[in-house]
Amino acid sequence: MKQPVKFLLGIAGAMLIGGCAHTAYLGFHGKSVNAFPDIHAGVTRDVQCLECHHPDHAQGPPTPHPDFTGCLNCHND
Ligand code: HEC
Ligand code: HEC
Repeated sequence: MKQPVKFLLGIAGAMLIGGCAHTAYLGFHGKSVNAFPDIHAGVTRDVQCLECHHPDHAQGPPTPHPDFTGCLNCHND
């Protein structure tokens, strides 16, 4: 096989593997808080979100990424 082809396959493979774990976080948005407007009314700060979604003490579905910041950037549409 020619080198350039191998090179391209390598890149494609790396993207595929990385993609499985992280597509979610590369501009793909999560579910929206607007699905439950009553629960989320007036909630704007990350610490508030984590009070209910931190995996250690979740009241709603636990977040798979408690270290993220700017929750509403991804969960508001
Ligand atoms: C008062 C507790 C509380 C707070 C604060 C809260 N949530 Fe929730 N959230 C819930 C509960 C409970 C559910 C599940 C509702 C259900 O399934 O009936 C939920 C559901 C969700 C869902 C899943 C929606 C879906 O369509 O399945 C997301 C995403 C979410 N919350 C994100 C957030 C974000 C981001 C914040 C901060 C802006 C936040 N939540 C603040 C309690 C809370
Ligand atoms: C970069 C975008 C991004 C940010 C920032 C982000 N999330 Fe998410 N979130 C996602 C995506 C995408 C998913 C779906 C991931 C999956 O299912 O693996 C998700 C899943 C969730 C879920 C699970 C919803 C369910 O119904 O299972 C919760 C809860 C959640 N996020 C809460 C939060 C909280 C709280 C914060 C802030 C501390 C936050 N997210 C920050 C993108 C983001």
